This record gives sequence, C-alpha cells and structure tokens, in this order.
Amino acid sequence: MSPALPALVVFVGSLHAAEPFLVAHRGASHDAPENTLPAFELAWKQGADAIEGDFHLTADGRIVCIHDFDTARVAGRKMIVKDSTLAELQALDAGAWFKPAWKGTRMPTLREVAATVPAGKKFYVEVKCGPEIVPAMLDDLAASGLDDEQIVVISFNAPVIQAVKERKPQYKACWLSSFGKGTPLDPGTGKVLATVRAIQADGFSSKADPRLDAAFVKTLRDAGIEYHCWTVDDAATARRFMELGALSITTNRPGFLRNALAGPTP
Ligand code: G3P
Ligand code: CA
Repeated sequence: MSPALPALVVFVGSLHAAEPFLVAHRGASHDAPENTLPAFELAWKQGADAIEGDFHLTADGRIVCIHDFDTARVAGRKMIVKDSTLAELQALDAGAWFKPAWKGTRMPTLREVAATVPAGKKFYVEVKCGPEIVPAMLDDLAASGLDDEQIVVISFNAPVIQAVKERKPQYKACWLSSFGKGTPLDPGTGKVLATVRAIQADGFSSKADPRLDAAFVKTLRDAGIEYHCWTVDDAATARRFMELGALSITTNRPGFLRNALAGPTP
C-alpha cells in the first residue's frame, strides 16, 4: 500500500457529516402524548439516541413527568403540580387530550421513565422546578441502574445545574436559555460563558434560533463548552445546526427526522 493511502482514507472519511444525535422531545411527542410512557417507548422504537422529559417535585416529595406547572393543558383539570401528591396527579388522564385512543394514559414518575432507557442510550432529565428537587432526583437516578454516562441533566434554572454538579459531577449537565427578541443575541456568548462557568455546566442548549451563527457556537466550543439545540422537526434546520456544531438535536419526530436526514441534501 502506498504510504499516502492511509492519509487519503482519513481525508475522504472526514467529508462525511457526523451521524445526527437525536433526542426525543417529551418522547416521540408528535405521535403520542408528550411526557408519557407510550411517548418514550415510541421514541426508542423510532430509533432515538436519547429521550428528553420534563420533571417536577410533587407535594409528597415524589418526581413526576409533566411540562407545565399545572395540569390544565394535558389533563383538562387544573391542579398545581407542586401542591398535589403523586397519587392525585396520577389519577388524572394525561392522554385523552392528545387523541381519544390515548385515554387512560397517566403521568409517569422519573423512575418509570428511567426504566424505559435501553443500555447505551441517554436520558435528558429537564428540571422544571428549583433545586429543592435535586436530593430526591439524585436518589431516583442512582436507584435507576442507569450508568452515569447515560444521564444528562438540563434546566433553565441555573441553581439547579449548580446543585447537580456540586453533588454529582459525573453527570453531564447543561444550562438552557431562550434568547430575547432583539439583536444582538441576549444572552450573548459573554453572558453564556460566565453563567456556564459559574455553575460548572458542561454545556449550553438553546432554541434552534436562526440568528445563531457559527461564531457563536465556535466561541463556546473553543472554551470547552458543548452546544445543543431544540426543537427541530425539519431536515434543513437540523443540518444547519449540525454544521454549526450542535452535538444533539432535540426533536418531536425522531423517526421522521432521521429518515429525512438520511435522504439527499437539497
Ligand atoms: O430540550 C429543551 C427543551 O425541552 C426546553 O423547552 O419548553 O419544551 O421544555 P421546553
Ligand atoms: Ca423540556
């Protein structure tokens, strides 16, 4: 073999884009009711690399999977999650709002969601409340049997990320933020880096905002900070953010998006 050949093989290989790492947002929530066991199980069937779910602490110290601070949108009856017991919340129907076929689906606990995660796949645990959830959450995650590398804690609440990294530095943890409406982007890279460093986060995750550019992601990555994005259901946007350097793409449609990304680039 010519000595130049191995270098050529490496070069050709590098022309291929990295495989997309797809995180199922609230499970396969385009096809099943968000944040329920059927949505998470469907996400695995659709070939997701990870699932993402939203979690709150209940009045009796348990951890329940629901996005909003109350149950009105997904259960048709308003109960404040933090003021309700797990039994009260699980007595509600969290599936019928989506389609009658899902009637009778209940809100799962953190442990029940963790139990769906296959070996080698990841679990993005989004904390929607404050750091009061952290001791119970770390107990539940430790009891889940998942490896440390399978768990990624994410939150808009910076003190939550800080509390997780102080107690369990082995878990990857990312700070989430939305951007303000104006320009330049707010938070900009200076504010993101300062926050991420102060709370010892491993990364930053934002909406797949069209204003975000390569320089933004490069600044973070040059500083050793991961970048991730949500919620992307079309191949063009997913390709753009993968090219910018997003390490994961959170989507409501993991099966659809993977197929679309495998197709020809327009
Ligand atoms: O993955 C982050 C994303 O889920 C944050 O937004 O409102 O859908 O929880 P939200
Ligand atoms: Ca979420």
